[in-house]
Amino acid sequence: MAGGAGYIGSHTAVELIGAGYDVVIVDNLSNSEMRAVEGVRKITGVDVPFVEVDCCDIDAFRKVFEQYEFDSAIHFAASKAVGESIHKPMLYYRNNLTSLMNLIDLMHEYGRHNIVFSSSCTVYGEPDKQPVTEQTPRKPATSPYGNTKQMSEDILRDAMAAYGDMKGIALRYFNPIGAHPSALIGELPRGVPQNLVPYVTQTAAGIRECLSVFGDDYPTPDGSCIRDYIDVTDLAKAHVAAIGRMIGGSNKERYEVFNVGTGRGVSVLELVRGFERVNGLKLNYKIAPRREGDIMAIWADPTRANQELGWHAEKTLDETLASAWKWQQTL
Ligand code: UFG
Repeated sequence: MAGGAGYIGSHTAVELIGAGYDVVIVDNLSNSEMRAVEGVRKITGVDVPFVEVDCCDIDAFRKVFEQYEFDSAIHFAASKAVGESIHKPMLYYRNNLTSLMNLIDLMHEYGRHNIVFSSSCTVYGEPDKQPVTEQTPRKPATSPYGNTKQMSEDILRDAMAAYGDMKGIALRYFNPIGAHPSALIGELPRGVPQNLVPYVTQTAAGIRECLSVFGDDYPTPDGSCIRDYIDVTDLAKAHVAAIGRMIGGSNKERYEVFNVGTGRGVSVLELVRGFERVNGLKLNYKIAPRREGDIMAIWADPTRANQELGWHAEKTLDETLASAWKWQQTL
């Protein structure tokens, strides 16, 4: 797992091990911590190997292929802050694209077969119609980050078309939130959180004074933006299904794309009120101006993942919001 010590990577490691796979976590710890690897080891009782490597350094990355036999890899190793990507575009292009190209090159060179790629619903831009299916046209990306996700999908598609013995699946994540029910792993944002739920939990914990709800004047039922919030453990299980599909040979094309969401659109204000209700607390929040670059609404049609991967989002939003708060209290 390239970038396996991060938020989604660590939860995926737990689910893969639970499903009987052997896992090697590879990460440069640039935006993750050993605490996540320790958490994975604690939850699973397995002494999961960890290699500290920057996947952009192909010679260092090559050592992982020399040392370990594996047939499938997941690429999580990417920078993910939309706002930062606008100010540091070259960092995003270099990191996100180089690490993926290195992974594909090494997989090909060493005769390894299956790649799962962490894509994002950001590839749809502001969609004309909801919910979005995999056939919904991708719109021009609105940030270098979004651009790297579109480009990465294309790189993977073209490489799989060229390399007849390899397969790839891009999972288009909607908005992952929550934490493992054990509260041994979860999201570890550095500095001021940019994403909604970490900001909510830090506000509830008194670390932040007040949550700003970015906009209540959108043409949505309550005026705030709508997203499809997917529990991170549910999202992790989609990777297990994707790997199983490729290993079992049930993929229909050598490159496939799946939406990984719940199919339910939830507004920012609904989420905030749900968090208060489920956890029995009051959140200090105010309405603030719209955030630049935000889209108004997006949620998934997950039918394809439901039918083809046999994967379904299982957790309720309440369970997920409770897990997010439980995790925050351990920090
Ligand atoms: N929001 C607030 N206040 C905050 C933070 C967020 O009101 O302090 C709102 C945003 O305006 C948005 C919603 O909460 O309406 C969700 O915002 P996030 O930043 O949590 O998530 P985004 O939907 O902006 O971005 C996420 C991922 C990206 C991905 C994108 C695709 O973080 O990696 O989804 O749409 F590209």
